[in-house]
Amino acid sequence: MAKKFYLTTPLYYVNASPHIGHSYTTIAADCLARYMRPRIGKENVWLLTGTDEHGQKIQRAAEKEGLGAQEFADKTVVRFKSLWQELDISYDDFIRTTEPRHTNTVEKVLDILHEKGDIYEAKYQGWYCVPCETFWTDSQVSEKKCPDCLRPLEKISEANYFFKLSKYQDRLIRHIKANPDFIKPVIRYNEVLSFLELNKLTDLCISRPKERLEWGIELPFSPGHVTYVWFDALINYISAVGEFDNQGNYHSKWWPADLHLIGKDILRQHAIYWPIMLFALDIEPPKTIFAHGWWLINESKMSKSTGNVVSPLEISKKFGVETYRYFLLRDVAFGQDGNFSEEAIIKRFNSDLANDLGNLIYRTLTMAEKYFQGNIPAAKQTLETPQAKNIEEKIKSLDARVFDALGAESAVNFSQALEAIWELINIANKFIEDTKPWNLAKEKKTEELGDFILLLINTIKEVSGQLLPFMPKTAEAIKAQIRGDKVKKGKPLFPRIDIQNSNL
Ligand code: MSP
Repeated sequence: MAKKFYLTTPLYYVNASPHIGHSYTTIAADCLARYMRPRIGKENVWLLTGTDEHGQKIQRAAEKEGLGAQEFADKTVVRFKSLWQELDISYDDFIRTTEPRHTNTVEKVLDILHEKGDIYEAKYQGWYCVPCETFWTDSQVSEKKCPDCLRPLEKISEANYFFKLSKYQDRLIRHIKANPDFIKPVIRYNEVLSFLELNKLTDLCISRPKERLEWGIELPFSPGHVTYVWFDALINYISAVGEFDNQGNYHSKWWPADLHLIGKDILRQHAIYWPIMLFALDIEPPKTIFAHGWWLINESKMSKSTGNVVSPLEISKKFGVETYRYFLLRDVAFGQDGNFSEEAIIKRFNSDLANDLGNLIYRTLTMAEKYFQGNIPAAKQTLETPQAKNIEEKIKSLDARVFDALGAESAVNFSQALEAIWELINIANKFIEDTKPWNLAKEKKTEELGDFILLLINTIKEVSGQLLPFMPKTAEAIKAQIRGDKVKKGKPLFPRIDIQNSNL
């Protein structure tokens, strides 16, 4: 296992309210950080998240509210911070791109690359999409619409600064080929590699003239320009955890990042621009960039204009934070798209949480209270059946199975880990049904009954330990019911949702 683990989420734009998509990446990152901390030491894990606060989108949103851009960002950043608190996100650092530690580093990067000749001045003419903050060439555009978001484009012509992406294209191709884990999952790896092999990269325009956009980091060598928001924002991954010395060498105890978690929508910036920026700076690229899929609503994209944006706060209020976290990480294999609906959450809740997990705990603790006055029975080694042996083995091997899914080199497979945990829960429930413990009680087979309950309690202990990164509060609540050599049953953790009688 890695000695240190530095992982990041994207920096979210502060102009829009956080939605389930933002919370997805952040919950996934939180789960991995929680998984790694007890395994390699809390002090060796660093989870970075934050907000992207410059650029046209934010400037326009601020103007609309009649606020200054900084004032607007100060107000809206709170929505992210309080959501992460609500969702139990254990980040180690939260960076805002308007903080001096970031802006200073961006200026430094600009200076280094300008001096080196990797940033140069030229005239730009072409199409520009304001919401995406992206330039497009004539050949990429039809009907004056943005190829990505289909919104109308603006024609612009201006003097700007460019970053030499083209110079490092071959090096990037070689790096990707030599590092099969650099971009994950494999579908994204292939996508980026074939794009690079089939297209010649054009240099990236990294400035915006102030007349058009004021809200950004000024170029140190051209006060009439601010930095393109993507060039600015990507640098956060190094500005948060290290510094450049006077010779332009970067120092950090955390870098290279072990994992950049992103959505597939921002793969190009992370898998092409970012490593090339690092090459140019003589800094090692991140180890892995993992691009997950999209949550869709009725198979279509969430957007403000269609009014189908789902609020994570609302959903977690309705179903509970733990259920929400569980659902997102369980329902779809990480990397694939998923369809989000309340029906799907209720289904998962009733079957996996109420029926499987909740029942196992409730029944086991009820029996321990009823037959052993809440004491955990001492082992008498009476269970020799293949079914009991199988459960014992599964308890022992669960840690390794979860490790294969989450801890092994660049594995990021939450649903696989949860499936392994549920396999154990389900065979334990089947064991209860097959054993019919009430008969053991009637026949006064106390020793067998004790061993049977002990095995179930050991199952629950192992399950709750493994659930901790996914559902921290649930794991705690389970632990509170099994303390030392006693159990104390609480209320059912997941009372079934009655669809007929609920107003959902
Ligand atoms: N500010 C840039 C990222 C800069 S990183 C240096 C940005 N911000 S964003 O607010 O638009 O957030 C984008 C991220 O939110 C996606 O990459 C993804 O992680 C998440 N999601 C946004 N919508 C999503 C879905 N519908 N489904 C899943 N996740 C998506 O881009």
